[in-house]
Amino acid sequence: MLQSAEPVSTKRMLVSLIKSIDAYNSLLKDHHRRVTAFAHRLGVEFGLPPRRLAKLVIAASIHDIGAIYVKEREQLMRIDVEDPEPHAINGARILSGIPAFDGIRLLVRYHHVRHDDVERGLVSASEVPEESWFLHLADRVAIYDLNFASEPDPRERVRAEIRSRFGRDFLPELRGAFERAAATEGFWRDADEDEYRELLTFAVDAELDETVGADLESLALLFARIVDNRSHWTHAHSRIVGVLSGRIGGLMGYPPETCAKLRVAGFLHDIGKIAVPAEILEKPLPLDEAERETMESHARFSSLILSGDDELAEIGRWAGNHHERRDRTGYPLMTGGERFEPESDIIAYADVFAALLENRPYRSALSPQEAMDVLKSLSPLKLSQDVFNAIAANFAELVSLLDEDRERDLGFGGERDRGQEPWLSV
Ligand SMILES: [Fe+2]
Ligand SMILES: [Fe+2]
Ligand SMILES: [Fe+2]
Repeated sequence: MLQSAEPVSTKRMLVSLIKSIDAYNSLLKDHHRRVTAFAHRLGVEFGLPPRRLAKLVIAASIHDIGAIYVKEREQLMRIDVEDPEPHAINGARILSGIPAFDGIRLLVRYHHVRHDDVERGLVSASEVPEESWFLHLADRVAIYDLNFASEPDPRERVRAEIRSRFGRDFLPELRGAFERAAATEGFWRDADEDEYRELLTFAVDAELDETVGADLESLALLFARIVDNRSHWTHAHSRIVGVLSGRIGGLMGYPPETCAKLRVAGFLHDIGKIAVPAEILEKPLPLDEAERETMESHARFSSLILSGDDELAEIGRWAGNHHERRDRTGYPLMTGGERFEPESDIIAYADVFAALLENRPYRSALSPQEAMDVLKSLSPLKLSQDVFNAIAANFAELVSLLDEDRERDLGFGGERDRGQEPWLSV
């Protein structure tokens, strides 16, 4: 597995990726940042030890990654959420099987459990990690704060609403911490971007130092899942592109370290889709001009999200160029020509290869041979002949690699299966 030269940059990258979830997702509107700040203040007031506080902060910063549709988001923004289970289950599923996030998974799974769900025997108290209660309370403070914003005294209104729900929705033991925290001005002030980065850095430092598997590949794989999960058409696409890219690099004689970087670039190539509404990603009909532009903007956002860290600059470049073509017919920059690196070609070929073998709303999956014909048509004008030759010479091996990966994917639950709990079996 790829260990970054300096572990610090792996952590910095995680902080940047977490921040990108809200920054580029119009649906979330800073919700994760708000909830993280509230959860942190409640945890501090309660006296949670640093390691548990760190877990709570990381879980808060990604707690709603399982909610992808506008309809679902709207439901979660209400005072009383009717059915929070699907997004909580889906969020936990995304986090499953990645050791670095093992400690967080159950916090996300149970972040909407109400105190009386336990009283009524709907869930057993021992299943629910204590930090989940903090997360639930923080989430609701953020939502009430938003809902009551136009009332004459919104803070008092939020406090009254929260107070009335201790023992029913919220754990009574948190009442004291809430009252003390809510009496301070700082509790209500929105954290700015720098404070959010600081909070995440503290949490990532405290949590990931202790965790095995906190390597760049695990982090990249998590974000591959977050993106792939946003449309059932692409439920394993980024992961497959990463696996293929690393293998093609190996076939071309690149050293293992470069192959590992290619895998990470493949996992993250579509990270910019976090900025594209799921409704467009899922649309079954041809896209109109504006929708196509929005869809294509993902490549620009991938570059932008991955450009924050110098050490990862080449991964960001390869990933961000995956729709560029040498004859300048690609996007977003139409750079092409001499500026094109072979590693970008590898990601681009892997992307096309993987996509052709997947169903899409507008066509069924192609057979491997049909896919091969399309790949052939891309070189040498659009993409590198050398990369194509490596693919062509090892075609059977690459196809079986994809078959193997697809089998392994079944353990992850395959396509997003709402209402069930496939993560439990992982
Ligand atoms: Fe939620
Ligand atoms: Fe939430
Ligand atoms: Fe893409």
